[in-house]
Amino acid sequence: MDKQLLEKTARELVASGKGILAADESNGTMSSRLEAVGIEPSPEARRMYRSNIFSTKGYESAISGVILFDETIRQSMDDGTSIPEYLSSRGIHPGIKVDTGAKDLANHSGEKITEGLDGLRDRCAEYFSMGARFAKWRAVIRIGQNMPSIANISTNAHALARYASICQEQGLVPIIEPEVIMEGDHTAERCFQVTSEILSQTFKDCKKQGVHLPGTLLKPNMIMPGKDSNVQISREEVAKLTVNCLSMNVPEEVEGIVFLSGGQSDEDATAHLNLMNSMDTEHPWQLSYSYGRALLAHALQTWAEGSAEDSQNAFAHRAEMNSLARSGDWASHLES
Ligand code: 13P
Repeated sequence: MDKQLLEKTARELVASGKGILAADESNGTMSSRLEAVGIEPSPEARRMYRSNIFSTKGYESAISGVILFDETIRQSMDDGTSIPEYLSSRGIHPGIKVDTGAKDLANHSGEKITEGLDGLRDRCAEYFSMGARFAKWRAVIRIGQNMPSIANISTNAHALARYASICQEQGLVPIIEPEVIMEGDHTAERCFQVTSEILSQTFKDCKKQGVHLPGTLLKPNMIMPGKDSNVQISREEVAKLTVNCLSMNVPEEVEGIVFLSGGQSDEDATAHLNLMNSMDTEHPWQLSYSYGRALLAHALQTWAEGSAEDSQNAFAHRAEMNSLARSGDWASHLES
């Protein structure tokens, strides 16, 4: 394992004022999102939309890395330059989603286990040779009656640790993403408790597998009530509970935390991050973003309305707002 390379990449991914763009929707997910805005999905439709985003001017001051899907890392910009090569030429690390999706967990109705460990070493080696320097694996944890089960927590934590270990052997910084999803009517306290369980189990397994934590990034959910809960909480409470939960469960050696947006509104995702970065509470990690929808939802809409330039502007604006939130310098009046 090249620890120096891994640490350097991880540090660069959470450099001051920067975070990650998650543009790694699977073909199925990206196709549904295109269809939802009235665009016929195809490999070329996905390429056109994404390559337009990637060619936005100036966003490298806010975006250190872009997570790609297998189809995209093999595609090219309009001028024929391969997408990973193009991103690298702009000083942006190409990343790659390496899991093969969340599948039904045997004998546990409603729960998922993320697959993709078979053949992972060879796939990582190929992605590294194509220019990728980091990877992502997302585990899905759902809260409900008798959920999550011990089986759900333990199998996903184990898979995340094995994935992280294989990536590091192949020179890729693993983004470890155990997402406690917002679906449900649970309270923020329950989210805190379940997030603590999956985080502590994941880091126990990482220790067993010999994962080098300074060469990793954690991509967690924030601590929030379920979407259907009738006890919603303030942005300040979300920020405070999230930092508390991480402080209790994440080893200080982890290089950085890059939150997912998970269905939050664009502005909530930015405001929560901004509040966390303005708090007095001491914590050892960079607190940053690896947003998908919270960076691109509006850009996709404007793309569908027919303007490539407006789509780039929408993305550039969200990137800039989140970049400001990295240092607590965002304010809502900057949105207009
Ligand atoms: P969202 O920010 O849209 O949740 O996407 C981030 C991501 O990569 C989820 O795996």
